Amino acid sequence: MILSPLHPLSAGLTGDSRLVRAYRGERADTAPVWFMRQAGRSLPEYRDLRVGTRMLDACLDPAMASEITLQPVRRHKVDAGIFFSDIVVPLKLVGVDVEIQPGRGPVFGRGYADAAGVAELTAIDPARLDEASAPITEAVQRTIAELNRTDNGSGTATPLIGFAGAPFTLAAYLAEGGPSKDHLAARTLMHADPGAWRALMEWTAELTGRFLRTQVLAGASAAQLFDSWAGALSLADYETHVAPASATALSHVHGLEYETTDAAGAAVTRAVPVVHFGVGTGELLGAMHAIGVDAVGVDYRVPLDVAAARIGDGVPLQGNLDPALLAAPWPVLEAAVRDVLRRGRAAPAHVFNLGHGVPPETDPAVLTRVVELVHEAGA
Ligand code: CP3
Repeated sequence: MILSPLHPLSAGLTGDSRLVRAYRGERADTAPVWFMRQAGRSLPEYRDLRVGTRMLDACLDPAMASEITLQPVRRHKVDAGIFFSDIVVPLKLVGVDVEIQPGRGPVFGRGYADAAGVAELTAIDPARLDEASAPITEAVQRTIAELNRTDNGSGTATPLIGFAGAPFTLAAYLAEGGPSKDHLAARTLMHADPGAWRALMEWTAELTGRFLRTQVLAGASAAQLFDSWAGALSLADYETHVAPASATALSHVHGLEYETTDAAGAAVTRAVPVVHFGVGTGELLGAMHAIGVDAVGVDYRVPLDVAAARIGDGVPLQGNLDPALLAAPWPVLEAAVRDVLRRGRAAPAHVFNLGHGVPPETDPAVLTRVVELVHEAGA
């Protein structure tokens, strides 16, 4: 399907941004930079706005979600906004009993760790999400109205990244009924009842894929699939029990294309770029690329040159400064940023990011300084 002519990619606003160019493997004047969890508790303006509003209520308030998305773009001059939402928002929108507890994460009214629980959950039609998605569409539209007027150095509008949780990471919360360290309930169900597991993964893939598609249709210029907890799996389990569902989720955005011209002026049709990220997934990097993505996000445990060698030639990488270094003395942090940039040159293109989210106690001035350093360092 061809995106609307008003979409920032179709309208020629973001297709040549540093970010979108990097995701298609091209180097620009400098590496683009954004941070996972750039919106959130590290920003005083976020903490002020959130007073008295629960996390999921903030996600479903289009004006608030849009404003929170824009805060780090204005403050840090990053090369992309990431939509302020949460991986459990699509579950909430179809009526699943879930809340986000501060300092803890998503907590469900119950766990879905057996066939009966899975049957109850999967009785909900994932297509219901499309009718409930108006607040998401409105929040994205409000956000791109400002991003389309914001040039943070690319010489183009600033792109918005849409995101969704991968089926395994969502299932890790659903099976357990909340956060867990080892995701044992999900890993047990996968082997104890492969049929129920498949049903859970297929349902989750449909739901989260629709959530991602909604954001892209509304104006996001790239999509990131977060499989945060896939690092708990062996490569064999990942490939057999998880990767097919992640591919199904992405099938909802793979067909979304825009028409533009290439560097030589010839007409081309391009797909919306997709990034795949997980934590502790050093063993899975090749398999995470193989499901059909444009770029791979790498956590801080695997240096980018090592990741490039593992995945194979020609794959743009995103990452991977250890978030712990944001609290280190500047000379230490500066050296680490330069090291990440140097190793990133092993890939055809590199999007600078952290190896996981911004810690809430981070001094935001440090993040701004990292953005300046990445931009000054050049390609
Ligand atoms: O700036 C951004 O990166 C965009 C916003 C974003 C949030 N959640 C906002 C949020 C994104 C991309 C997510 C995804 C998400 N949510 C993931 C995948 C990314 C990752 O970090 O691995 C996961 C695993 C979740 C589930 C979740 N939601 C957790 C673990 C938490 C943290 C709980 C806590 O309080 O420490 C949340 C809540 C959450 N999501 C917050 C934010 C800003 C904090 C809520 C608050 O400010 O009160």
